[in-house]
Amino acid sequence: MDKESKEIYGKDETEDLYFEPELILKPQNTLQVSKILSYCNKENIAVTPRGAGTGLSGGALPVYGGICLSMENFNAILDIDEENFQATAEPGVITQVFQESLEKKGLFYPPDPASKGSCFLGGNIAENSGGPKAVKYGVVQDYILNLEVVLASGEIIWTGANVLKNATGYNLTQLMIGSEGTLGVVTKIVFRLIPKPTRDLLMLVPFRKLEDACKAVKAIFQKNVTPSGLELMEKDAINYAVEFLDESPFPIDQNMEAQLLIEVDGNDENTLHKECETIMDALNPFECGDILYADNNQQKESLWKLRRSVGEAVKAQSIYKEEDTVVPRAHLAELIIAVKEIGLKFGFRSVCYGHAGDGNLHINILKDDLSEEAWNNEVKKGIIAIFEKVKALKGTISGEHGIGLVQKEFLPIIFQEKQLALMRGIKTLFDPNHILNPGKIWPD
Ligand code: LAC
Ligand code: ZN
Repeated sequence: MDKESKEIYGKDETEDLYFEPELILKPQNTLQVSKILSYCNKENIAVTPRGAGTGLSGGALPVYGGICLSMENFNAILDIDEENFQATAEPGVITQVFQESLEKKGLFYPPDPASKGSCFLGGNIAENSGGPKAVKYGVVQDYILNLEVVLASGEIIWTGANVLKNATGYNLTQLMIGSEGTLGVVTKIVFRLIPKPTRDLLMLVPFRKLEDACKAVKAIFQKNVTPSGLELMEKDAINYAVEFLDESPFPIDQNMEAQLLIEVDGNDENTLHKECETIMDALNPFECGDILYADNNQQKESLWKLRRSVGEAVKAQSIYKEEDTVVPRAHLAELIIAVKEIGLKFGFRSVCYGHAGDGNLHINILKDDLSEEAWNNEVKKGIIAIFEKVKALKGTISGEHGIGLVQKEFLPIIFQEKQLALMRGIKTLFDPNHILNPGKIWPD
């Protein structure tokens, strides 16, 4: 295998981490996956399943070498069942390709991570991904009915049934979702779909104070409106994205600390306009700048492109650590105040953005010109302080990026030993020799 391939498959989108696989395998079908796992199980060889490598917690990094099991050849949409609002696809299909195939038939699969143009459905299952639409439509786990899975032994199972209700035993389907490639390898996915809304309205609201942008989120919901997107970007996030894309869809008022990107969708234009008016009422108590209404598709797309590129844009500025905190949404303002205070105390700068409507705040901590000592010690103390705060607010340490490699040392902040032991027991039941994605989720 050439050096270049090893370099590609030794990385994902997490920080600047690199672990070289010893062998890269690209199976073509379920039987080949079964044979590979059965062999590796007997020979005790580590297998790291891999989607598109867009993960942000190091889940696809082969930390113990061994085999990188790339699912890139599993790229077929097998069936779109319009009568039952279901579809069956392989895990290597790009999320956006899947969504666009459905949209042609008026069907909708809402989860759309920022990397939707390159990430795979299988990776989204591994991390239980969300994205901006989750606030109204839920996350990956709300759209999966049934999975074909190859177990570590090489045995092939289906986890559920292709039905909308299922009270038949333990829910193995949900157990697989978010298990980060540690319990089995997904080879087919049966999705539940919904009708695609035909209209949406999008606006960008600047706030003088970052804290107010967070408080406004709660205020909007209290008016009984559920936006189909409610995203926060603080000033630096927007400025970096504009610089990264080298285009600005709107003039940026540098006096504004943050902006909320707010979308409503449905089928009736009048209803959507009324919802926007209700949202405006909710924003009344806050000091806002001029609101930008996107009035054509091109403007909408450029605003979403700006939002989707924040992660990459921050990465282009500095090495960073991305924390994926989530709290009950009414506590978002309290969280962001604490994050900024903790940054001051431990001497780091953060750029915050994310899915405010879900209380899901991405906190990018920048290395800038911090010394290695400060980066490794002080920043870690700060991350622990942030996670303790998240826990106190009844939140958790990952909303959609997973635990993988980089968050595993923090898992005991959230779980007691008993909970960790239960999860380890499940892991061992599925994968007795711990060949599947070793070195992930569990603290060393
Ligand atoms: C986002 C990714 C990083 O929301 O989750 O942009
Ligand atoms: Zn996100």
